[in-house]
Amino acid sequence: MFLKADIWNVQDTEFPTTGTPEEKLKFVLNYAILAPSSHNTQPWRFKIESGKIYYYADRTRSLPVADPDGRELIISCGAALFNLRIALHHFGYASEIKTFPDSTNPDLLACIELGHPIQETTDEKLLFQAIKARHTNRHDYQNWDVPETLLKWLQKDAISEGATLQIIKGDIARSNVAELVAQGDHLQMADPNFRNELAAWIRPSTSKSQDGLPIYTHGIDEHFEFATPLFAFVLRTLDMGNSVAERSRKLLECSPVIVVLNTKFDTSANWLAVGQALQRVLLRAQTVKLFASFLNQPIQIPQLRSQLSKLLGDKGYPQIMLRLGFGQEAKPTPRRTVDEVMSK
Ligand SMILES: Cc1cc2nc3c(=O)[nH]c(=O)nc-3n(C[C@H](O)[C@H](O)[C@H](O)COP(=O)(O)O)c2cc1C
Repeated sequence: MFLKADIWNVQDTEFPTTGTPEEKLKFVLNYAILAPSSHNTQPWRFKIESGKIYYYADRTRSLPVADPDGRELIISCGAALFNLRIALHHFGYASEIKTFPDSTNPDLLACIELGHPIQETTDEKLLFQAIKARHTNRHDYQNWDVPETLLKWLQKDAISEGATLQIIKGDIARSNVAELVAQGDHLQMADPNFRNELAAWIRPSTSKSQDGLPIYTHGIDEHFEFATPLFAFVLRTLDMGNSVAERSRKLLECSPVIVVLNTKFDTSANWLAVGQALQRVLLRAQTVKLFASFLNQPIQIPQLRSQLSKLLGDKGYPQIMLRLGFGQEAKPTPRRTVDEVMSK
């Protein structure tokens, strides 16, 4: 049983090497739950039975306004599935995974078993080590170039998981994308339902809550902790579209690289795949301390999403937009424990 502070400090030496398959699978979930998720909702549920993990999407933790189709919810679950796969390999097992095994239950995302014994590759070891170090990093980034070879790696990573990673190059393309992000901020912030939903997931930095967005993730210093209720109140009541759009524009300007993860189609299977691609890309970036944060506003709004797709040359369905760069480290966010995300 892990306490809140221990969640990010899980030790691989504690793997129950001589335990039952169920004990091993349960331990591996400690790595799955460190995955990113929209608004840190952690929309996953696991059941372990007869040597299998039954992995469910938890719709009770959905974001009906920002994510009405549950697209980002499944992407988040895909990211956790990637961590699970990498952790299984680390502990010496191939991952036997059937995705969407029950056509009558679309929320059963995967069935996972310990496969035959394997030796993790050096590359997998690096990705495994990055799981505990990766955090969404919303700071400004340094204006340092990101090496082309590294970007090529990220593209290969995306392809290996069934997605593509498009790099937005050139001032015109970047400024067009910045415009769409700004429009997205305006539209979302003008919607009281969107603001209410976001405010409901904002937490004081010292909160004991094990989900949601601690206020420090929004660049508010912990010393201004007392301002959290005020921040949530202002968020709920005022349209801060202008200032939010201005901040996004600045962040875009100081980010050396903007990328978009695309899929060929737009089904749940594509969302689960792109979630795994996302996490592979984020972990790869983390191995060299290349940081990432999300700029999904134009993808969350259907009319802007099709404009973005056109702007990118209609290469598929944009699923996730990230800015990448080097800079100061970000802090971890809370997680629910494995026991809290298990169904009996
Ligand atoms: C599918 C998905 C969509 C996300 N969208 C946004 C977003 O639009 N803006 C943002 O700031 N963070 C976004 N995030 C990042 C989450 O807020 C973050 O993962 C969560 O708060 C947990 O923090 P961590 O990534 O540092 O562990 C998204 C993450 C995922 C997986």
